[in-house]
Amino acid sequence: MKLTVCRKEYFNAAHRLYNPKWSDKKNSDIFGKCNNPNYHGHNYELVVKLTGDINPDTGYVYDMKALSVLIKTNVVDKFDHKNLNLDTNEFKKLIPTAENIAVVIWNILRKQIDNKYDLKIQLYETKKNFVEYPAQQ
Ligand code: NI
Repeated sequence: MKLTVCRKEYFNAAHRLYNPKWSDKKNSDIFGKCNNPNYHGHNYELVVKLTGDINPDTGYVYDMKALSVLIKTNVVDKFDHKNLNLDTNEFKKLIPTAENIAVVIWNILRKQIDNKYDLKIQLYETKKNFVEYPAQQ
C-alpha cells in the first residue's frame, strides 16, 4: 500500500529574471517586476512529497525528521538568504524562475533519496503562484 508523506520548508531568496540574449526592453516586457535590475526577494515555500510503502516495523513511509534534515542541509542552507543569480552556481546561467528552481531542487534531492521512493515537489513563489515537478502524468 503506497502512501505519500509531505514535508514543508521555507527559504527566502532574491532573484532577477533576465535573459542576456534579449534587449532590456524585451526582458522588461516579458518578465515585468521580476526583471527589476536591483533584484527582489520571495518567501519560497517548498513542499517535498515522498511516495512509498509503509515500513511495517516503524509504521513510517519515511522518517520525517530525517527528511527535514535532508531538505535543510541540501536545499535550505544552500539557497536561504542568497541572491540566486549572484550567490549560487546553479543559477549563474539558468534563469531562476520558480520552474527552474523546482527542477534544480528536485535534482538535488533525488540524489539523496532512495529510488524506491517516488519524489515530487511543489514550490510556491507567492501564495498564489506555485509549480510542481515532475508534472502530473
Ligand atoms: Ni520574482
